[in-house]
Amino acid sequence: MTTNRYWKLNRYPEGNDFASAFSLETSEIPTPRDGEVLIRNAYLSLDAGTRMWITPRTDSYHPPLPTGGPMVGLGLGRVVASRHARVKEGQLVRCFGQWADYSLVRPDDASLHILDESVSDQRQYLGALGLNGWTALLGLRHVADVQAGETVLVSAAAGATGLLACQIARTIGARVHGIAGSDEKCTFLRDRIGIDGEINYKTSDVASELGKIEGGINVFFDNVGGSILDAAFPHMAMHGRIVICGIIAAYASGGRTSGPSNFDQILMKRLKVQGFMCTDFLEMGEDLTAQLREWMDGGKITMPFDETRGLENTLAAYSKLFTGRNIGKVIVRL
Ligand SMILES: NC(=O)c1ccc[n+]([C@@H]2O[C@H](COP(=O)([O-])OP(=O)(O)OC[C@H]3O[C@@H](n4cnc5c(N)ncnc54)[C@H](OP(=O)(O)O)[C@@H]3O)[C@@H](O)[C@H]2O)c1
Repeated sequence: MTTNRYWKLNRYPEGNDFASAFSLETSEIPTPRDGEVLIRNAYLSLDAGTRMWITPRTDSYHPPLPTGGPMVGLGLGRVVASRHARVKEGQLVRCFGQWADYSLVRPDDASLHILDESVSDQRQYLGALGLNGWTALLGLRHVADVQAGETVLVSAAAGATGLLACQIARTIGARVHGIAGSDEKCTFLRDRIGIDGEINYKTSDVASELGKIEGGINVFFDNVGGSILDAAFPHMAMHGRIVICGIIAAYASGGRTSGPSNFDQILMKRLKVQGFMCTDFLEMGEDLTAQLREWMDGGKITMPFDETRGLENTLAAYSKLFTGRNIGKVIVRL
């Protein structure tokens, strides 16, 4: 291959209309200069949080990606050329780069990870051992300090981050309830992941289902926000913790969301509500990966993949995140 295909961001998408916002372009394969690395991508990781990178707002956790340039995300691939002291040709790496056949990156120490080849399914570097794994572990351990015997609720529970939160909470010894958007997802959560209770938020009254959880919810790992977050507040246990991992219900409209209508429960129940970003903890990555690897090798956690083939099909795969058509991690195989 002598040309490189990449997805160009032409304008910020309206809602979930990605086809009007992006175009697939071709260019020469770039040549790295001093400090740069060229990676042949094997897989792209599609992450719901990147939707907040493609809005014009400047008060988000990430500055808006410039229009007219390539779309950026996490990828897994092999180094084909390097002019970076730490990175060698042939190495398997995970890095933030372009949605492209080849990514040209200028990595700092935290943003490019040189990977151990001994993992049999290397896709797990975008799954159980990837940023979703880090996020679930950080949220449950470092933010919420979940203890064995507590009750944990997870929203978007059949997605990449949610599935890992469910499995890690179980591994810690918590009872786990999950909220998801289809009966198929609920069955998967019950039969394959083995959680203690599941709620299809599209067909049931979430608040009344949550009211049946004996003893209340000690920790809510929330990926969704909006009405699901609202419904959980009255059912939190005293001194409960709410981890604000994501607010995907608001991403299509730019991420702005009003506060919970059950705000009073923060006081009444002495709740702790905390947002966090996994990218603030990149320097802890090796420790997080070691813990996740131990659990994965011991059969405690895994990640199913929703795999799409071909860079040209990236937008269809990306839209699954926002329409709920995925179970597990959405990736594109190049
Ligand atoms: N804070 C951090 O560092 C961090 C890191 C990674 C991810 N996250 C957050 O974690 C969440 C999940 O991200 P992911 O990449 O792992 O995606 P994912 O969970 O694999 O896919 C997104 C899922 O969200 C659900 N969803 C989509 N729109 C929804 C809506 N309007 N209302 C309720 N549920 C909706 C869908 O499942 P249903 O069928 O159940 O609706 C969909 O499958 C996102 O909020 C993301 O921003 C945060």
